[in-house]
Amino acid sequence: MTDQLEQLREQGLQNIADSGDLQSLDATRVALLGKKGVITARLKTLGELLPEERKVAGAAINNVKQALSQALDARKAQLEHESVAAQLAEESVDVTLPGRGEVPGAMHPITLTRRRIEALFVRNGFEVVEGPEIEDDYHNFEALNVPPDHPARAMQDTFYLDAASLLLRTHTSPVQIRTMELRQPPIRVIAPGRVYRCDSDRTHSPMFHQVEALYVARRVSFAELRAELQAFLEAFFETDLKLRFRPSYFPFTEPSAEVDIDGRSLGTGAGWMEVLGCGMVHPSVLEAAGVDSLEFTGYALGMGIERLAMLRYGVTDLRQFYNNDLRMLAQFV
Ligand code: FA5
Ligand code: MG
Repeated sequence: MTDQLEQLREQGLQNIADSGDLQSLDATRVALLGKKGVITARLKTLGELLPEERKVAGAAINNVKQALSQALDARKAQLEHESVAAQLAEESVDVTLPGRGEVPGAMHPITLTRRRIEALFVRNGFEVVEGPEIEDDYHNFEALNVPPDHPARAMQDTFYLDAASLLLRTHTSPVQIRTMELRQPPIRVIAPGRVYRCDSDRTHSPMFHQVEALYVARRVSFAELRAELQAFLEAFFETDLKLRFRPSYFPFTEPSAEVDIDGRSLGTGAGWMEVLGCGMVHPSVLEAAGVDSLEFTGYALGMGIERLAMLRYGVTDLRQFYNNDLRMLAQFV
């Protein structure tokens, strides 16, 4: 009897130790301690014994039952721990593995250039303002001293929208008018944005960007315009520059000039490139926008952002900015 029980215990403990997962451990538990398990069967035989034998045998069986039950609990805890550890090991992320090589995004070179221009002007006391890309004929032309049949309209090939005299603005100069309509001098603003012209070659794009600058106050002079421009362009290109102020004509400025930069002096371009138009704001323009032209004078300029970007980055065809070729764009990260 005791030998048999001892064997049962040994065998039971062995089975428990051999149960490799929670499911087989549960099967072992049922086989040992379940309703039809061997220990339970053993307890049922107690009735056949004499009363004095029954007490000793009952205690012995309970002893084995308790030992097995403890071993089951311990094994269960161990298996549970192992399964959690296995799951954690499987789901863990190895942060030391090399990345999968996603390409990080970057600013477009034109955006970088626009921001650089803005920062330099803001540093000199200019405020950034904006105007609509869909303009009316009045702000794009008429208020800028370009009446309907004026030949100057042919200088800029315009995209017209419909008969309601709406158009895609051909320059940022209408923002001059919109600003002066809203406020009185002193005015010191820049207006960056997209403009549109029916134009396309190595240095012309049908959509391009300009930055307008407008300074209107008492006794503003052309000398100030020159000084401001020289300082701005030298800060922009981070070098001393020889500028070419070429006398020019715009209906909305008098006198007027266009400014060229020699790409060779920057080591990036082929030769002289026009980067902006400028001049003293025409008195008729001041008056049209509600500013007293006897009390105030001002200068204005409009520069091409693409042109400045070309010179800064050594890009010889402006259209490369818009081909969306990542081999080109990824160089400006
Ligand atoms: C104007 O647009 C005038 N509104 C500039 C101005 C403002 C003069 C204020 C006086 C006072 P223009 O058409 O020259 O001028 O253009 C100005 C600059 O825009 C040019 O110097 C050039 O840098 C750039 N630009 C002109 N057309 C294109 C184009 N199709 N593609 C890229 N850049 C262009
Ligand atoms: Mg021009």
